[in-house]
Amino acid sequence: MSDKPDPVALAPASLAPASLAPASIAAQALGWIDPVTKAIVPPIHMASTFLRDEDNQFRSGRVYARADNPTFDQVEATLATLEGGTRAFVFASGMSAATACFLALEPGDHVVAPKVMYWSLRNWLLTFATKWGLKVTLVDMRDLAALAAATQPGKTKLIWIETPANPMWHVTDIAGAATIAHAAGARLVVDSTVAASVFTRPLALGADIVMHAATKYLNGHSDLIAGALVTGKADEYWERLRLIRAQLGATLGSFEAWLLLRGMRTLYPRVEWAARSAARLAERLAGHPSVIEVLYPGLANSPDHLVAARQMTGGFGGMLSVRTRGGEAAAIATAAKVALWKRATSLGGVESLIEHRASIEGQGSPCPVDLLRLSVGIEAPDDLFDDLDRALRRAHGNA
Ligand SMILES: Cc1ncc(COP(=O)(O)O)c(C=O)c1O
Repeated sequence: MSDKPDPVALAPASLAPASLAPASIAAQALGWIDPVTKAIVPPIHMASTFLRDEDNQFRSGRVYARADNPTFDQVEATLATLEGGTRAFVFASGMSAATACFLALEPGDHVVAPKVMYWSLRNWLLTFATKWGLKVTLVDMRDLAALAAATQPGKTKLIWIETPANPMWHVTDIAGAATIAHAAGARLVVDSTVAASVFTRPLALGADIVMHAATKYLNGHSDLIAGALVTGKADEYWERLRLIRAQLGATLGSFEAWLLLRGMRTLYPRVEWAARSAARLAERLAGHPSVIEVLYPGLANSPDHLVAARQMTGGFGGMLSVRTRGGEAAAIATAAKVALWKRATSLGGVESLIEHRASIEGQGSPCPVDLLRLSVGIEAPDDLFDDLDRALRRAHGNA
């Protein structure tokens, strides 16, 4: 264990998180007040290096900003509190946070990951990580019996789940996966990007680490790339993650860390609005003549609904997908005809995005070719429906 002061312990809070709703904690970022100036917003520390004491020590706990940065303190403390964890690390991207979890293992270790998951990470696991020496098994994470069968006691060191999972929004039973992981001596890491620290508390359900592409809902404004990990306990594995961030330089910039905290202050109103809007769109699109299927765990007839209703609280998130009548060409034509929705990859911003997902995932993707992924923002839900309805009708020659 490092004897450096822990940033979460360093980050001051004027609020008593235990007595407050998470929305209040997020809005005030733990209520930090600058002790000297009384500013209610933390400063941006741009220093890349920190002064050594005359007796050759670093009593400030800071040495060099590739390892850590005072601008991280408040954002890490706030995120750890929102997730019910004890420590958090911000990273340069969601991918650097995610890959750190695997690089902290040993070549030869076995990991289990979902067949349906964020595409770039799945690619990395099947190429780089496999070459590096990890043994990777992909399973349908909605099937806990399949997960249990794929898990090798003593050999499996990490089970990775993403819930709800890109781009079909499969929901994995976190508590069930945690039981299987722990019985085999493995850790459970949850990519909770889509649940956004609001709708699911993976640590309370037994997960060991929560990962976020903070690029998405945590920031919420499509203007930075960032990642984060949160843990329940700062053990030796957590220390390896700290080292990997510093040694690989997977370090977030100061301005990005500051912007991320600013985005997190509005996390609750943004994602609650988006989730309400997504639920309404899912219901309306389910009855649309040009749509053959709506994939959204909030729909009562979704195969994911039962587990989602048990482990998600306050909503089912702002992500849904639709499968269009007429196959790939109709899906691409629909995306071409929207005006309010923006044709772009990514998710979790205040502006709604539409994407023909199979085009970006490419060969080998389990994503159906007629699928459009929708990231619902905070525009008026009726405007979003009307724009999509118009695009669907025009793409199908009904306008
Ligand atoms: C669920 C999920 N996990 C991880 C990532 C990777 O995050 P980043 O793009 O910040 O590296 C993404 C990005 O789209 C994502 O959607």
